[in-house]
Amino acid sequence: MCGIMGYVGEKQALAVVVDGLRRLEYRGYDSAGVAVVSGGQLETRKKAGKLANLESLLGSDPLPESVIGIGHTRWATHGGPTDANAHPHVSEDGKVAVIHNGIIENFAELRDELTQAGVTLRSETDTEVVAHLLAAILPSTGMDLAEAMRLVCRRLSGAFTLVALHSDIPDVVVAARRNSPLVVGRGIGENFLASDVAAFIAHTRHAIELGQDQVVEITRDQITVTDFYGVPAEVTEYEVTWDASAAEKGGYETFMAKEIAEQPKAVADTLLGRVDAAGLLKLDEMRLTEAQLREIDKVVVIACGTAYHAGMVAKYALEHWTRLPCEVELASEFRYRDPVVNVRTLVIAISQSGETMDTLMAMRYAREQGARVLAICNTQGSTIPRESDAALYTHAGPEVAVASTKAFLTQLVACYLVALFVAQVRGNKFGDEISAIVRDLSDMPRKVDLVLDTSEEMKALAAELKDAPSVLFIGRHVGFPVALEGALKLKELAYMHAEGFAAGELKHGPIALLEEGVPVIVIVPSPTGRGLLHEKIVSNIQEVRARGARTIVIAEEGDESVVPYADHLIRIPACPTLMQPLVATVPLQVFAAAMAAAKGHDVDQPRNLAKSVTVE
Ligand code: AGP
Repeated sequence: MCGIMGYVGEKQALAVVVDGLRRLEYRGYDSAGVAVVSGGQLETRKKAGKLANLESLLGSDPLPESVIGIGHTRWATHGGPTDANAHPHVSEDGKVAVIHNGIIENFAELRDELTQAGVTLRSETDTEVVAHLLAAILPSTGMDLAEAMRLVCRRLSGAFTLVALHSDIPDVVVAARRNSPLVVGRGIGENFLASDVAAFIAHTRHAIELGQDQVVEITRDQITVTDFYGVPAEVTEYEVTWDASAAEKGGYETFMAKEIAEQPKAVADTLLGRVDAAGLLKLDEMRLTEAQLREIDKVVVIACGTAYHAGMVAKYALEHWTRLPCEVELASEFRYRDPVVNVRTLVIAISQSGETMDTLMAMRYAREQGARVLAICNTQGSTIPRESDAALYTHAGPEVAVASTKAFLTQLVACYLVALFVAQVRGNKFGDEISAIVRDLSDMPRKVDLVLDTSEEMKALAAELKDAPSVLFIGRHVGFPVALEGALKLKELAYMHAEGFAAGELKHGPIALLEEGVPVIVIVPSPTGRGLLHEKIVSNIQEVRARGARTIVIAEEGDESVVPYADHLIRIPACPTLMQPLVATVPLQVFAAAMAAAKGHDVDQPRNLAKSVTVE
């Protein structure tokens, strides 16, 4: 996710735009840039790093005065956080500036087309192609900027919010959106464009939410909205009632609540552009050759905390789809146990921040032993992917809350993609088998969205259980890492004892913990899943109930066998066994956040914790 801002009116555009970017900086902060039009000239300034870096650049190399401008804070998806990759991107003739939020799926072919037409591309981004395409259309066709934008948008696939300026059209800002947010702010003698209302509610609370595949043209006095073919579009205006702080959270009370709600889109974005027309995987960006993937005889996953739980799920998928042995290691333990790692080992380092020192040191050790390292990371340009042999980025957008939610689900998706790709390359699965699994995976954003409907039930449950001395979580197969993740969320947010177990392990000791009323959350696998898993977990529910436990059962729609043993029954959508963690985890995230709120804790910044643990 990036921060997007556009302005045209009577004020100094730069001040309005930079202030708007500051309110959007949580959306992405690895580089920032602005563009204005003054005296028929387009002027841009852009800088890697936080917004403050851009502001100091503007101090030393100021922009001319202007009443029209656009600005961007970046969360890199294609191309690292460098000055060259920072937005705005400018056409070769210096007349068009473009900023973008999203992923242009067909950017590679557009880059090739432009290169063959003699255009020199100056960045690694997908965005830059739009600036050149607009510039190529405008002078020769006599179109206005909005029409040119519509023509270009019809050629793009993927997710994009685009905002453009043209030096010869100094009173118009044009924007377009598909699968990526864009909102218009209507002022008096001024109008605004932004990725969310936080950027302009200091100036106006009159907002217009744009629909899918729409282009908007703003001047200081006019707002015109059409579809991608120029047909006028109906829009609805609304009054923003949030205060500035709530607006930064998109109206949610906490960043964690916002990030939980963003999970369907985060999962969809992580799949975007990684499946070809035949339904097979295309992960060229990983930078691991097929020959290298065929040499592998073992996979070792290294990670910490929530990322480690994602690695545990990855083990089940990797071993099932690729038949390669897979070890999952706590990064902080890995290099001290003298592990067997060599050139035929693929080490997968999972890290949202890409800066976790335990994971970084474990990865360096693995590389010293000759292993190839693939990073699964959410932060472009961070240390772990930079030092890896290959990287596959999740596209969750910035995760601000310390407790990891959308990063976890997108780590799962990335692990599935890697496992499937290895199976595809090594021939463990036929193409039709791969595309069938990919079809199931492509339906998961919808199911994650469905499971968000359990939020009210989980909040009510949290209110009932907020004084419980402890909560136990049990699961089997991929439900076991989900149990661990649910317990971790509760520990780090509600500061209470919580523990996850492999359900089959209870009878070997932990069941002694049970007494009347102890809440036990049970993740129940699909009844049509693997072998006896479902039958065994139902027995486990009976075991704990027989000892007085209060059973909170998370089970798939239609699974009636658990009803007699559930004090609380939370329904999740039916899905393939290996993908169930994508839906089963969400109620546990909501439950932990609600428990924290009920106890009056800071949900976004729990005590003693940091978003990225950069010490060993
Ligand atoms: C999870 O909610 C925590 N924030 C923590 O366990 C985190 O997952 C762990 O520190 C790993 O962080 P990373 O993904 O940035 O490497």
